[in-house]
Amino acid sequence: MVQAVAPNLVAAVSEARQWDRLMEMAAIGAIPGDSPEDRGVNRPCLSPEDRQARRLIIGWAEQIGLAVSVDQLGNLFFRHEGTEAGAAPVVSGSHMDSQPKGGRFDGIYGVIAAFEAVQALREAGVATRRPIEVVAWTNEEGGRFAPGCMGSMAYAGYAPPNTWDGIRDNAGISWADALAEHQAAEADITRRPLGVVEGQTPHAYVEAHIEQGPVLEQKGLDVGVVTGIQGSRWFSVEIRGRSDHAGTTPLSVRRDAMQDAIRAITALNTLMRDPTDVLRFTVARMEVFPNASNSVADLVRFSIDFRHPDNAVLQARGNAIEGVIQAALTTCTATLSERFHATPAQFAPLVTDAVQRAAEAQGLGWLRMPSGAFHDAQFMVPLCPTGMIFVPCRNGVSHNPAEYSTAPQLAAGTRVLAQVLAELANG
Ligand code: GLV
Ligand code: MN
Ligand code: MN
Ligand code: MN
Repeated sequence: MVQAVAPNLVAAVSEARQWDRLMEMAAIGAIPGDSPEDRGVNRPCLSPEDRQARRLIIGWAEQIGLAVSVDQLGNLFFRHEGTEAGAAPVVSGSHMDSQPKGGRFDGIYGVIAAFEAVQALREAGVATRRPIEVVAWTNEEGGRFAPGCMGSMAYAGYAPPNTWDGIRDNAGISWADALAEHQAAEADITRRPLGVVEGQTPHAYVEAHIEQGPVLEQKGLDVGVVTGIQGSRWFSVEIRGRSDHAGTTPLSVRRDAMQDAIRAITALNTLMRDPTDVLRFTVARMEVFPNASNSVADLVRFSIDFRHPDNAVLQARGNAIEGVIQAALTTCTATLSERFHATPAQFAPLVTDAVQRAAEAQGLGWLRMPSGAFHDAQFMVPLCPTGMIFVPCRNGVSHNPAEYSTAPQLAAGTRVLAQVLAELANG
């Protein structure tokens, strides 16, 4: 049934070990959900919880003899050697940071799955010609420091590593300071250069992830063969007015930043209307100053997260945002800055076909599907043949403590990943 790779490889993937590791990770930064049975995670990137989680997996890597290294952005690598000196590696992983009200599987599953797949290869005695590197990318979520995917963007050369130095979290801590503190805490770990090492562009990149949507569950399928990722653009908007006394200042003379922010967001909702319901438009982060009930707001900052699979729509409507905001203002001024711009990405047949073949060989139900969420894989696309494997999650819920996939669902994805990694690493 299972292809040529090694009959015992798939059997060596341990559902129980993977689940136990995920639950051990979930205890780090554990938070309650809205209902008593939901348990989520708050593990902001570069936080003490993030470091504790990283130490946990570093310990597992040392136990099984994987070489551990870290680059200047904090991207963490675990290397399984291949048999051919100098062969380009196959890379697989995801991220360990979470949303502030995140689930137990988003990101961390892809890291633990790659780790489990490599451990299974070693235990099954399957040698690979190429090395395999398990990676945990830094700050995929962008929950503490926006934008997300900083680690993978810097690795892939999409942006210089100091691009985000001045970005601050809600506590006012800059990215540069948080990273310096983090580097000091991991000074004992072997440093590797940022990006492609010694000219060895990866042979391929594969990322396993929960679907974060309802499709696989609704169709009763095991595996998503991910074909690509829609485009995303993030903006940060500042509306500036004047603070005044709420009891004494007539409405006619105010320069109320809150009122103009409401007008701007309303106008953006009109711009982003889409009868096909494909477009995604979200305003979910807002800061109001001075943030007092009886002072008119003099500054409102808000975020825009805009996504579309068609690059023409992503460009046209994204580029229209600033004009629409300016036209909506009555008394205030606005500035807009773009924080993140990921064009739609198509995955490579080398990987997507390997994922489909492995799913078929293992008798799993699969579906070719795009990703609505962005992932680090998006930034690997220009670098090397890239693909992703999705597994179902309950009710499609993610970025929520109620996020859940079963141990067998997660193990099925990892068995596919193990076979894909073995095939690519011998290709
Ligand atoms: C990733 O977390 C995303 O927002 O798509
Ligand atoms: Mn994720
Ligand atoms: Mn996420
Ligand atoms: Mn994500």
